[in-house]
Amino acid sequence: IYLPNVSLQWIIVQSGFFSFGAGLLTYKLIPSVAELTSQANLTGMDLNKRGDPKFSGKKIPESLGICVAVVYLVCVILFQTFQWFSFPETIQLSEYNAALTSICFMILLGFGDDVLNLRWRYKLILPMFASLPLLVAYAGGTTVVVPDINFPVPLREWLGMVFDLGIFYRIYLLMLAIFCTNSINILAGINGLEVGQSVVIATSIIIHNLIELTIASHSPLSTAATNSAISTVSPHLFSLILMIPFLFTTISLLFYNWYPSRVFVGDTYTYFSGMCFAVVAILCHFSKTLLLFFIPQILNFLYSVPQLFGIIPCPRHRVPKFNPETGKMEAIPTNLTIINLLLMITGPLTERKLCVYLLIFQGFCSCIGFGIRYFVAPYFF
Ligand code: UD1
Ligand code: MG
Repeated sequence: IYLPNVSLQWIIVQSGFFSFGAGLLTYKLIPSVAELTSQANLTGMDLNKRGDPKFSGKKIPESLGICVAVVYLVCVILFQTFQWFSFPETIQLSEYNAALTSICFMILLGFGDDVLNLRWRYKLILPMFASLPLLVAYAGGTTVVVPDINFPVPLREWLGMVFDLGIFYRIYLLMLAIFCTNSINILAGINGLEVGQSVVIATSIIIHNLIELTIASHSPLSTAATNSAISTVSPHLFSLILMIPFLFTTISLLFYNWYPSRVFVGDTYTYFSGMCFAVVAILCHFSKTLLLFFIPQILNFLYSVPQLFGIIPCPRHRVPKFNPETGKMEAIPTNLTIINLLLMITGPLTERKLCVYLLIFQGFCSCIGFGIRYFVAPYFF
């Protein structure tokens, strides 16, 4: 990519090196931390291997998200310490620190949930408190561009080009944080899925940021006025320096969490991951694009609504049924998740295949998301 300012490229490369180191460190640390969490009785049974003689009765270390999250924070904080002076001035230190506070608070609440096993209703509201520091520091606009649509009503004639949502914009951002954290947490229960979906989403965000940086560097703006160009690219630079370390540390976790899982990630990880996505989308103003990368999570949430709101009974775990005779997972139609829905369509699958298919679906949805963002949305905005 050609950036208007070479030092921006250099920041991204350095972030890559830092993050690679963080990934290696995570990979090294996970076995030792897993031993510690086991000793502290933070363990879980692998639900989908009950009755499988190869795995019977084994307890798996839980909450390894804590290892990933701490290495991530150390990496990001060190990077900030050494690199702050080379960041463009348009990246606000207050916003950056608020982002870290929100992520950090979410990790604490997630770990608390793992240790204390909180009830559903508390899980739902925790991310709200965690996102408050970020919303207070949020200095961006609260206006939205009105789509150029004339049917059923001429929107722009009625509302103007841009419309100020005021306080409702912040409420929308709050709900985004609650949605991101919980929607990843409820698309879970088979080996590798929580971490795998996070890898796909983080990769999609990074690609989106790189595309935006490239577009900005090729616009006439970048040659005419370097400063304006930097203000266009800096949100995406900001997102990259939070997402690249996230991706590397998460990939290391995936090595251990992939089928057959040697560690579980815990709600520490699902909340941490969801919060990271919400934070970058809020501060870098691409919440609509982020939602395009969350299509499977949105579908899973909508499909889950009857169970989440108690219209249909909701068991503690909504996983499919493992059949020890065939070694395959079978759908339980009363558990309304897209995991079970997929099994109803394809018939029984092994746990590994089921996860791979769901991740392919996630990747496919990201491609559709890119299509909508870059080819369909320009017609309306
Ligand atoms: C959410 C889901 C629940 C799902 C669970 C799995 C809702 C409303 N809740 O609950 O249906 O079963 O996540 O994480 O949709 N586990 C496995 N294999 C895995 C991952 C987890 O067996 O690959 C089991 C382990 O026993 C582990 C436990 O799930 O200890 C972790 O559950 P937890 O994350 O606490 O469940 P919730 O997030 O409350
Ligand atoms: Mg969970």
